[in-house]
Amino acid sequence: MKSRPLVLSIVGARPQFVKLAPLAKALSRRFDHQVVHTGQHYDDNMSQVFFRQLNLPQPDYNLGVGGGTHGRMTGRMLTAIERVLIQHRPSLVLVFGDTNSTLAGALAAAKMDIPVGHIEAGMRSFVRAMPEEINRRLTDHLAELSFCSTITAMKNLRSEGITKGLVHSGDLMYELLHDLKPKIRRNRQLLSQYNVEPGKYLFLTAHRAANVDDPGNLSKLASILEMLPLPTVFPVHPRTKGRLRRARLWQGLQRQPNLRLTEPTGYLETLSLACHAQVVLTDSGGLQKEAICLGVPVLTLREETEWVETLRRGNCLVGLDVKKIMRSLRRERRVRPIPFRIRNRRPSEIIAVAISRYLGAR
Ligand code: UD1
Repeated sequence: MKSRPLVLSIVGARPQFVKLAPLAKALSRRFDHQVVHTGQHYDDNMSQVFFRQLNLPQPDYNLGVGGGTHGRMTGRMLTAIERVLIQHRPSLVLVFGDTNSTLAGALAAAKMDIPVGHIEAGMRSFVRAMPEEINRRLTDHLAELSFCSTITAMKNLRSEGITKGLVHSGDLMYELLHDLKPKIRRNRQLLSQYNVEPGKYLFLTAHRAANVDDPGNLSKLASILEMLPLPTVFPVHPRTKGRLRRARLWQGLQRQPNLRLTEPTGYLETLSLACHAQVVLTDSGGLQKEAICLGVPVLTLREETEWVETLRRGNCLVGLDVKKIMRSLRRERRVRPIPFRIRNRRPSEIIAVAISRYLGAR
């Protein structure tokens, strides 16, 4: 029997597990599919909980490379991924989004002349200081197949001279959310756990380096948290918690009666909490889109977004500007979700078929 081509997916951080979930099924119908987890996210509530809730195949390898500086983390990943690639020689390596795991995976494969497919290619914030912007630009220039969630992403790639291997695939996060939406909506039990009522609380997340590593911005974020006019559920990313503790801001926030600080929440809990909130406030790329998909207005705690399509549909950029935030919270906004199918096809199918064609033509 003819053996099937081996496709190897490299993931390491929460948003990548989410994107892999709908795709893994479509890939395993056509290819031998293996998953490498770099270990970038290693706490149970940042990693394993996603595998359990989303029925993801357990990783074939966990490289255990988490924490440390960007250079050290990326370098250790590069070495460890190369070892796996030498052993298996996959027909294609898939990388997702814009984390250090993405860049390390793409670089290790490209150096070995193994074709790279980049999921969520072409996203740009045009802010060079953002670690993610560096990761995604370099990955895009290493990839042979670029799977773009949006038309804007396709245009961004073309303007950088990347014209071959572009596929307008649509968004895997929307696909997953679309399938799980009824389950997510039904789950209201969590609200009583946090002592909040549907439509009468805010849901907030913040972990971007620009917001939490810069001491001035971190203290702005803390003041915002103290002034929010409604009960606010805030699952705190380990990076954010570490920075707040170090700046001696954590204890003060714990005493705020409106704030419900909690450990990072799993996929289903996060989306249920977002779904029943009056407004979502976030600096995450994924949650901006997910809130819109759930029909909930979102205030993005950044000055720019890669997801420009969401701006006309209920997403508003507020940075860390208290006045803007308070004003926007008072204003009612209509949310128009973005359809997830492209020409009536699922993103996961579009991607799997494009890989199949590409490998068939080689
Ligand atoms: C990374 C991505 C970011 C993505 C985010 C999703 C990069 C450059 N950034 O940021 O694009 O939006 O993931 O969450 O790759 N930590 C733990 N436990 C964990 C994971 C992390 O304690 O399970 C700690 C790390 O040790 C580190 C800090 O949190 O001190 C930041 O983790 P890191 O993986 O470097 O980046 P993220 O902020 O999660």
